[in-house]
Amino acid sequence: MAASSVAALSLLLVLPLNSTLFLQSPCLSDNFYGHYKLADSTVGIFKVSTPECIEDSQTRFSVSQATTLVNPPIGSSLLWLEQEAVDDALLQTEPFTPSSFYDSVLGLESTGANGQSVLHLGDNEQRILFSSEQAILVAMRPQAALEVDTILPRFWRSTLLPESPSTYRVVSDDAVEPVRRVLETLRFNPDIASVVNNISLPQIRQDIRFLTGEDGESGILSRHSFTTGALTAAAWIKKNIEESGANCRLELFLEGFAPNVICRYSATKETNDTIIISGHYDSRGSFGSARAPGGDDDGSGTTGILSIARTIGRKKILFHKNVELVTFAGEEQGLLGSRAYARELRAQNASVILMIQADMTAYRRAQEPLQLGLPERIGTPEVTQLIANVSALYSPELRVGYSGACCSDHQSFWEQGFPASQVFERAGPIVDPMYHNSGDLSDREGFDFNQLYAIAKVQFASVLHTAGFEFAAED
Ligand SMILES: *[C@@H]1O[C@H](CO)[C@@H](O)[C@H](O)[C@H]1NC(C)=O
Ligand SMILES: *[C@@H]1O[C@H](CO)[C@@H](O)[C@H](O)[C@H]1NC(C)=O
Ligand SMILES: *[C@@H]1O[C@H](CO)[C@@H](O)[C@H](O)[C@H]1NC(C)=O
Ligand SMILES: *[C@@H]1O[C@H](CO)[C@@H](O)[C@H](O)[C@H]1NC(C)=O
Ligand SMILES: [Zn+2]
Repeated sequence: MAASSVAALSLLLVLPLNSTLFLQSPCLSDNFYGHYKLADSTVGIFKVSTPECIEDSQTRFSVSQATTLVNPPIGSSLLWLEQEAVDDALLQTEPFTPSSFYDSVLGLESTGANGQSVLHLGDNEQRILFSSEQAILVAMRPQAALEVDTILPRFWRSTLLPESPSTYRVVSDDAVEPVRRVLETLRFNPDIASVVNNISLPQIRQDIRFLTGEDGESGILSRHSFTTGALTAAAWIKKNIEESGANCRLELFLEGFAPNVICRYSATKETNDTIIISGHYDSRGSFGSARAPGGDDDGSGTTGILSIARTIGRKKILFHKNVELVTFAGEEQGLLGSRAYARELRAQNASVILMIQADMTAYRRAQEPLQLGLPERIGTPEVTQLIANVSALYSPELRVGYSGACCSDHQSFWEQGFPASQVFERAGPIVDPMYHNSGDLSDREGFDFNQLYAIAKVQFASVLHTAGFEFAAED
């Protein structure tokens, strides 16, 4: 017995990441569980189990660097909960007390389906593994961990840690080379302008009403990953993108979750290089409400992707490199769909040369100009630069700035060493009052279709510049 309880002991590390970390502690590099937001910085989580690595880490990192020796309950899932980068004024609207938060999170953990608690809590087992004002790490029953987003305070988000670690990777110089080459030769291309200007704004207005259920016909109440609404949305997105000439598939990544929708336009040239643009079609609503229309989050990014597909079809675009249009599910539970897909591509040694995620592109606060927000921390600087430059060329009406709003599906690709970044609706934190709220409809004050459209143009033009393209011959 003693031997097995020793074997179960792991050292959990929540560490600021820097370039010397892995030189000093090489044993960490294969025990990486992802990047997480902690207040205004980014930390990496590691869990090490070999006696050598535990000992080495204990001598190297002090308790003040947030290391914990843990023995999470057997069969539990680890869940990171963090406060998001939202505007202070918005935070004040929902006062939050850490103790009642812990109670509700742990309450969910212990009731569970059929009221029974599956986790056995022995003497050495801990549930709260790390805690600070703006983030906590808890061990939970797997089912409760998947449902926790339904009871979280609105401005907190949860991320399920992967079950197995991956190798810590950075985006290498070689990986960024194709984007650098595009940046070097980038200039305004009238053909690209005429293609991206062909995106149809009226169609976007119509499409989003299907996704939110505002059209009264789709029957979608919610696109939360566990709902039938999400399945309806997935099938509809697939069908519409297929009509533009792509090959689409629904890819299941976790039982019970709606699938990723992955659509591919194969290259006309002999290459494995692939460019991915994406959004997430799952949504999150208000606590206790079955309604989760997700108009801005992320109906905006999803309809942007769909509008690009429709334009590819209308304009009969053929790409020189492979292009994928993807809408993910499981984003709201912690980037689960994109993590699965990025890991799969890494395992295949895929050549993803550019990835751009659109998440929340429509909300505009009164008196602010049309904006494009780019990630401050998570993302490949060259990709972010490319997006900023492309924006100046094709959507000069957007004021470009940086945002601490964090952690959408591009992170999953960036963590696997693929060049990736995000487009977002403003510089600075989230200010949308309907964020993670059942009132996140498209027909409301501040929902700006012109901004959504301008940002979709930027995403599309970035693809056209990077992939190269031609028009199919008329038949
Ligand atoms: C897009 O182009 C097609 C033909 O190429 C044209 O019929 C259509 O009106 C254009 N739409 C927009 C919104 O520019
Ligand atoms: C594409 O990848 C396959 C499998 O890794 C490889 O055999 C092939 O040579 C690659 N093609 C090109 C054009 O790089
Ligand atoms: C992965 O791809 C790179 C270049 O694209 C190649 O050098 C390497 O051998 C490949 N590795 C595997 C395991 O296929
Ligand atoms: C891209 O942006 C940088 C920084 O704003 C600027 O110096 C450069 O001239 C831009 N390049 C193009 C092609 O617009
Ligand atoms: Zn989102």
